[in-house]
Amino acid sequence: MVKVKKVKKCLFPAAGYGTRFLPVTKAIPKEMLPILTKPLLQYGVSEAVEADMNIMAVVTGRGKRAIEDHFDTSFELEHQIQGTSKESLLSELKTLKEKCTFSYTRQIEMKGLGHAILSGEVLIGNAPFAVVLADDLCDNEDGEGVLAQMVKLYDKYQCSVVAVEEVPKEETQKYGVIAGTAINDELIRVDDMVEKPKPEDAPSNLAIIGRYILTPDIFDILRKTPPGRGGEIQITDALLKQAEIGKVIAYKFKGKRFDCGSVDGFVEATNYFYNKEK
Ligand code: UTP
Repeated sequence: MVKVKKVKKCLFPAAGYGTRFLPVTKAIPKEMLPILTKPLLQYGVSEAVEADMNIMAVVTGRGKRAIEDHFDTSFELEHQIQGTSKESLLSELKTLKEKCTFSYTRQIEMKGLGHAILSGEVLIGNAPFAVVLADDLCDNEDGEGVLAQMVKLYDKYQCSVVAVEEVPKEETQKYGVIAGTAINDELIRVDDMVEKPKPEDAPSNLAIIGRYILTPDIFDILRKTPPGRGGEIQITDALLKQAEIGKVIAYKFKGKRFDCGSVDGFVEATNYFYNKEK
């Protein structure tokens, strides 16, 4: 019997410049911007842990050291607040650190998301893995998180899974857009994908958001993928190769997604979590 590999690893491409958030992102990684008191990346790690993953792999770049410090121990600080009411403020982070390991690699040149994922191969190896773009913040009040939903689909279909959302036609230029054949109300077998199409060229209004489960053959495909739109190595181009042989499923996930890479989405997420947690 073939042993089925579980998804235990999660890759966080976090090397981008975050230019839409300048000047704050000049010295602070975009992934460390807080929604209330937690950085975006911590939300992503929580979602991965909830989906039973325990190996967190982060692709960083220059000026991103705050990420490593956040998931490390700060003996002085922790000693200082030990036994006080403030100790609880770090308890969630402490639990995450106990449940998983963190490893880091650097993307030396910013050659796009596909290139960032390929840079993560050294941390992932030959295993299926999740990808989380931490600036897409997801929450499902009614049940399990988006990654946990996707892992179930991976377990069933044993191929790459991308999370998609319907977007207004005029916004297709911001996303990778898919087309394919419906398996049921929430699943599509993908046969076409276009990166950032103009509304008139978009094959649908189903946009890929920052949650993927990828099979490791994606690395070999990425190695052979030439720069695409914007001169960057696009994950969409590599996924299209898998889609051509029926190996990509798109999933209309349950829950909300906030585009925290934009100021509007960031403010919306802040209000949402403030109202939820107050
Ligand atoms: P974005 O398209 O949001 O780019 O990347 P960005 O640089 O972070 O932000 P803007 O557009 O300049 O404001 C999506 C995700 O892919 C990562 C980013 O860190 C982000 O998590 N990424 C992108 C990389 O890790 N490397 C890249 O070369 C490009």
